[in-house]
Amino acid sequence: MNITIVGTGYVGLVTGTTLAELGNSVYCVDIDEKKVEGMKNGIVPIYEPNLEEMFLRNIQAERLFFTTDLKKALDKSEVVYLALPTPPGEDGSADLSYVLRVAHDIGEMMTDYKVIVNKSTVPVGTADRVREVIASKTDIPFDVVSNPEFLREGFAVEDSMNPSRVVVGASSEKAKNIMATIYQPFTNTGIPIIFMDEKSSELTKYAANSFLAVKITFMNEIANYCEKVGADVDKVRLGMGSDDRIGHRFLFPGIGYGGSCFPKDVKALINSGKQDDFEFQILKATENVNSHQKVILVSEIENYFGGSIEGKTIAIWGLAFKANTDDIREASSLDNIRLLLEKGARIVAYDAVAENNVRKILGDKIQYAKSMYEALDGADALLIATEWSEFKNPNFELMAKRMNSKTIFDGRNMYPLDIPAQNGFYYKSIGRKTIVN
Ligand code: UDX
Repeated sequence: MNITIVGTGYVGLVTGTTLAELGNSVYCVDIDEKKVEGMKNGIVPIYEPNLEEMFLRNIQAERLFFTTDLKKALDKSEVVYLALPTPPGEDGSADLSYVLRVAHDIGEMMTDYKVIVNKSTVPVGTADRVREVIASKTDIPFDVVSNPEFLREGFAVEDSMNPSRVVVGASSEKAKNIMATIYQPFTNTGIPIIFMDEKSSELTKYAANSFLAVKITFMNEIANYCEKVGADVDKVRLGMGSDDRIGHRFLFPGIGYGGSCFPKDVKALINSGKQDDFEFQILKATENVNSHQKVILVSEIENYFGGSIEGKTIAIWGLAFKANTDDIREASSLDNIRLLLEKGARIVAYDAVAENNVRKILGDKIQYAKSMYEALDGADALLIATEWSEFKNPNFELMAKRMNSKTIFDGRNMYPLDIPAQNGFYYKSIGRKTIVN
């Protein structure tokens, strides 16, 4: 099949590369000429494990192409995926201007039947709006379907090549058949494709992300209560997760959820509700708990130093919103840094992958270390904000030597309680006993 992908951001690029890997000819369109030029020369604009290899393989096989010319790509394709940004407006609602502008262009440019596939996360009713815009420009028949993306950053290739399910919202038989053909390599291996109407499909994406955000937040509240009563959240988590109605995944407490999806989608769903005169009470509570959770360790650090951290040096391990990505959108590290700076602390941060992105927004307001141990030189405390693998089994003796005081505030529950204790550290994590030495 010949497919156009409009937008080569995270979702567009991964979707395009995956569809090429499945044997289709894929034309990726973007208005950013520099980016398109780079991709033509084999430069992957994002960091994602295993993506580069698959990307280069498909360029080489002449199944993956890049252009700024939408018309040229459209003329070659029967199916057009829209993978455009839908950034949150000031009130949190998704801004559809990019999607609708491209729909308008497609309406003006198309010369034969097309299936327009909404891949971006878009509010309920967007398929109808895209349909209206295109229909106002052409009499040529077309269909609009919703096909949300569920991939996780850091696992984009894995998730897109082996999704838990494919959701397709389509009301025309012709479009349904085309989508079934595209995803036949998946259904063949037992991955379910779930057909439904467009609105249900659009809502499925928001509901799935919001549910996961609620699940994490629920566990964060349980963790906070564990600390109050002297229970251990690791044990509670294992006990709960073993019930397969609950499951072990997404039950890890920490310093809140971040990233480009959960915060944005929870906000957008609350906002959609508002517009329909509907109040999402659980989601509002989730947002509220999460914003406190993100900086819950700052007051612990302050208390540890007797109420003031003025002039203290805090080392931060990890800046990305989670491990295996350079994405820092809504990262808890940033909330912590801002608050710690406000309170007069000096920050030395280390993140091998996300440092450059943080430099772009924080510049020299903080210092950057070249290694995890260098960040500890003269530090009064260490705050762990991202669960990178390299932090999992550190040399505690070396850490102790380089730090001013042996103090760890762990926002990701990286270590069994006895390990830092054996090495004489003060160790505060989330929902577990604080080790005081
Ligand atoms: C998420 C969804 O998982 C994906 O299906 C959707 O398409 C996009 O949004 P992503 O944002 O890449 O993916 O990250 P994810 O791994 O889901 O983590 C989101 C946030 O939750 C991170 O900040 C992470 O640290 C936090 N988290 C996750 C926890 O605090 N505890 C957990 O148990 C799991």
